[in-house]
Amino acid sequence: MNTITNNILADQFGRVHDYLRISLTERCNLRCFYCMPEEGIALRPRSQFMAKNEVIEIAKIFVALGIKKIRLTGGEPLVRNDAKEIIEELSKLPIELAITTNGILVDKFIDTFKACNLNSVNVSLDSLQEKKMNAISRRNYFSTIIANIHTLLKENFHVKLNAVIMRGVNDDEITDFIEFTRENNAHFRFIEFMPFNGNKWDRSKGLSYKEIMTIVNGHFGEKVLKIEDKKNDTAKNYQIQGYKGTFAIISSVTNPFCDNCNRLRLTADGRMKNCLFSGTETNLLTALRMNKDILPLILESVWNKKEKRGGMVTAEDFSNPLLNQKNRSMIAIGG
Ligand code: GTP
Ligand code: 5AD
Ligand code: SF4
Repeated sequence: MNTITNNILADQFGRVHDYLRISLTERCNLRCFYCMPEEGIALRPRSQFMAKNEVIEIAKIFVALGIKKIRLTGGEPLVRNDAKEIIEELSKLPIELAITTNGILVDKFIDTFKACNLNSVNVSLDSLQEKKMNAISRRNYFSTIIANIHTLLKENFHVKLNAVIMRGVNDDEITDFIEFTRENNAHFRFIEFMPFNGNKWDRSKGLSYKEIMTIVNGHFGEKVLKIEDKKNDTAKNYQIQGYKGTFAIISSVTNPFCDNCNRLRLTADGRMKNCLFSGTETNLLTALRMNKDILPLILESVWNKKEKRGGMVTAEDFSNPLLNQKNRSMIAIGG
């Protein structure tokens, strides 16, 4: 049966989608080298991006179709002038609202997060060493980011910390990242470095799930506990016995988790992506501006979602630049 007419966000493989990631902007106040091409990405006129009302209007249509969780991403979502108003408007919808941020502006938004019931904040933190973090991000915000992470923890937010693990860059800090969870109820996630347009990806530059766990087991031995993975979780979760926080691995490269995928994406310029790695997109914003009904476009995009990683099924496909460079750069997707 073709469920495309049933107005639910189902694809041909029986996956039902209830999680939408909305990128609010392609701009960012950091320049992390794994995320954007060295030359940056061209800034385009504001009119090409969703205005606040368009974000809300499209979000409402998705919510009517069964979306139950929205995570705001970027670029850096909090650099938008109207980020506060967007968060306030979205919080009126019957959804769980979350955000992924680089942490720099978090102190300006704590009250908004609290008032809007936005309890889950993911922060990128690729090093616990000031010099290194600033070198990776090509900016000098380390102390602000750390202070803001501690504020979030003190205020009892659910805090996940994202570190993309790269060989010779921060692989020597894996055990330090885990040590951070001894006294802090934070959830450190080690992410396999993924290929996106212009990020000079090469499989050998990142560490695999297996390599990371070899380091972890070598250091912590029997104190490493496997803990429960939630349905639709991208991460394999662990804890060191007696530590307050947890750690996890996100293994999109060596061990993709597409079978239970419930995620859809909306880029800042109003394109829908049915997968993080999809090479094709559906232009919802232009249709909306022409007063067209975007609902059939959304259902069609979901229906056509590929089984795995935008069609890159094997390790060879995933390593093939002809395939893995068809996608946008990460800064223009939002993660
Ligand atoms: P929650 O489960 O809502 O906390 O989201 P998350 O942990 O997936 O989100 P976050 O924005 O913190 O992203 C962490 C890493 O997971 C990033 O590197 C993302 O690119 C990656 N990621 C997020 N969603 C997907 C996905 O659908 N597929 C794959 N392969 N990776 C993803
Ligand atoms: N590979 C893996 N993760 C990436 N991120 C950005 N670029 C990449 C990449 N090439 C992560 C950042 C951020 C999250 C949204 O995406 O760590 O926290
Ligand atoms: Fe979903 Fe695509 Fe990510 Fe797989 S790679 S989990 S299908 S978004």
